[in-house]
Amino acid sequence: MTKITRSILVTSALPYANGPIHLGHLVEYIQTDVWVRFQKLRGHRCYYVCADDAHGTPIMLRAQQEGLPPEQLIERIGAEHRADFNDFLIGFDNYYSTHSPENRYFAELIYRRLQEAGSIVQRVITQAYDPVKEIFLPDRFIKGECPRCGTPDQYGDSCENCGSTYSPTDLKNPRSVLSGATPVVKESLHYFFKLGDFEDMLKTWIANGHVQEQMANKLEEWFRAGLQEWDISRDAPYWGFEIPDAPGKYFYVWLDAPIGYMASFQNYCDRVGLEFDEFWRYYSEAELYHFIGKDIAYFHTLFWPAMLEGAGFRRPTGVFCHGFLTVDGQKMSKSRGTYIKARTYLDHLRPEYLRYYIATKLNDRIDDLDLNLEDFQQRVNSDLVGKLVNIASRCAGFISKRFAGRLAQSLAEPVLFGEFVTAAESIAAAYDGREFNRAMREIMALADRANQYIDEKKPWVLVKQPEQVDEVQAVCSLGLNLFRVLMIYLKPVLPRLAEDVEAFLQIPALSWEALHQPLLDHDIAPFKPLLQRIESDQIQAMVDASKDNLQSTPSQPAGPLSANPIAATITLDDFAKVDLRIARIEHAEAVAGADKLLKLTLDLGGERRTVFAGIKSAYDPAVLQGRLTVMVANLAPRKMRFGTSEGMVLAAGDDQGIYLLAPDAGAQPGMRIK
Ligand code: 2FM
Ligand code: ZN
Repeated sequence: MTKITRSILVTSALPYANGPIHLGHLVEYIQTDVWVRFQKLRGHRCYYVCADDAHGTPIMLRAQQEGLPPEQLIERIGAEHRADFNDFLIGFDNYYSTHSPENRYFAELIYRRLQEAGSIVQRVITQAYDPVKEIFLPDRFIKGECPRCGTPDQYGDSCENCGSTYSPTDLKNPRSVLSGATPVVKESLHYFFKLGDFEDMLKTWIANGHVQEQMANKLEEWFRAGLQEWDISRDAPYWGFEIPDAPGKYFYVWLDAPIGYMASFQNYCDRVGLEFDEFWRYYSEAELYHFIGKDIAYFHTLFWPAMLEGAGFRRPTGVFCHGFLTVDGQKMSKSRGTYIKARTYLDHLRPEYLRYYIATKLNDRIDDLDLNLEDFQQRVNSDLVGKLVNIASRCAGFISKRFAGRLAQSLAEPVLFGEFVTAAESIAAAYDGREFNRAMREIMALADRANQYIDEKKPWVLVKQPEQVDEVQAVCSLGLNLFRVLMIYLKPVLPRLAEDVEAFLQIPALSWEALHQPLLDHDIAPFKPLLQRIESDQIQAMVDASKDNLQSTPSQPAGPLSANPIAATITLDDFAKVDLRIARIEHAEAVAGADKLLKLTLDLGGERRTVFAGIKSAYDPAVLQGRLTVMVANLAPRKMRFGTSEGMVLAAGDDQGIYLLAPDAGAQPGMRIK
């Protein structure tokens, strides 16, 4: 039979470049990575690209709050994302940024083609505008009282109390989240993509099975509600690409985000010499798959295929949606310590534990999945340590000690080995169909079978009878061969363990193709423990550290005031006692042994102060150097474990971040605040 090699391009959703990767994100990257690794293991040409989603208002504002150009912010966050993905063994072929020349090129190209085809229209719309900050306000940047139930402090698009949705102009007593000002209504010319023109094409595309059944049902609802024209422009100030021939107008971040898939792939093609068109031309025979969360299905199943079609590119072969992650049955929560950042997890646990657990939970549907921390510990310990690795550890010692590391010359039970190999097709079908839970169940059933075989043969008893010694070698060699087959099946999920096993068995990279060739008359290396059990205190420490993350973003940085309750009112005289001054941060550095602190050297216009500030989670020391901020200059010096703090810098903060205060341009170090 001739083997058909598929050409496959795969993407995961692009994470925004303004926040850390957490376990909720990782469900998708693990799902995609396992699928891609499986396709590669089967010998297909499969490429996995991704990027940071680097544009939009929230990123622009965050950069402003940090006093940084957005380029610097997205570079810093991009580096953090890359490190997190790398340490979770997510094997992107290319990880890029939507703020790239390739992405500008494709965004402009697609826009121009849509424009030439008559798919773009212009219309004047009215929108809420912040008269103080001089910026149009996205719905999420306006708060007020719900027009239906009157609950205060609701966003401009929906009410968290009664669930009603509305437009920001309906809010009672609206105010801008940015300045507190009452928004005014202002007109502006916007550019729209005529999605409705693509309705027939989209219906056919969906009927042809490119989305999951649950999603096809959802799409029916959207079609019934009617496809609206999509607003693809935003007014300056905006962080993104300016629209060609439209000064002051920018592409909405969601226009250039999916185009980032193409840009990242183009960048990869240029790097390694692949042909971009082979994958993206209208009649491409290559397969294109997008793995996404259910919340962004509208963009990927309607706007995106329509944009591609309108611009003369191929449409996706499949859009695969997954559900959300809950932890211990509930939404991730910072107060419970279940909002776990990728980095916090990695500080305590090996990435493959989570990769395996997520794999046991994932299927091809859109249902949410739960990470139950107790079940996680129990499943990993029982399956990976108690069943899988146990096979190797039970057999390897005898082979090393009694047979100088040499495996037997023939297979003791070819039928049993054959059963393991025959399972390949069913396991492969489960992987290919994204039913990882079924694949894991079948693999673990085989692991049970291998352990049962060793239990029956009892090599530890045989070894005591000199005439049975050959039998010990035969049993343990078969055990290790069964283990090897299981490791081929699990390689997409446990790539690092697979490497360790390759070293232990002294073999080239485990491959699906070599499945049926047993390892015989072959030397293996002495066995070293491959995987440790998860201990309860590791999980507890991770949860505690996740609670710590919350505490590391206090509304006031570390200082005597942070421990005290805030008085309802103070007199002017009280306030006048506080000596607030502009300070220049001359130098900033991390403090060894302190998770949250930075040591700042401040210049108060000639006078120099040392201040320890609890802002490490939000700032890279290098970016602080040279910045102006505000400090309390007459705070009594405070002796800390790391030195004496001679004042306090001022910052705002909440669960999401810490924002150091900064004066307007022109302020000088030492100036008093009046
Ligand atoms: O929802 C999000 O997190 C987006 N940054 C996903 C973008 S996916 C793609 F379209 F770029
Ligand atoms: Zn309401």
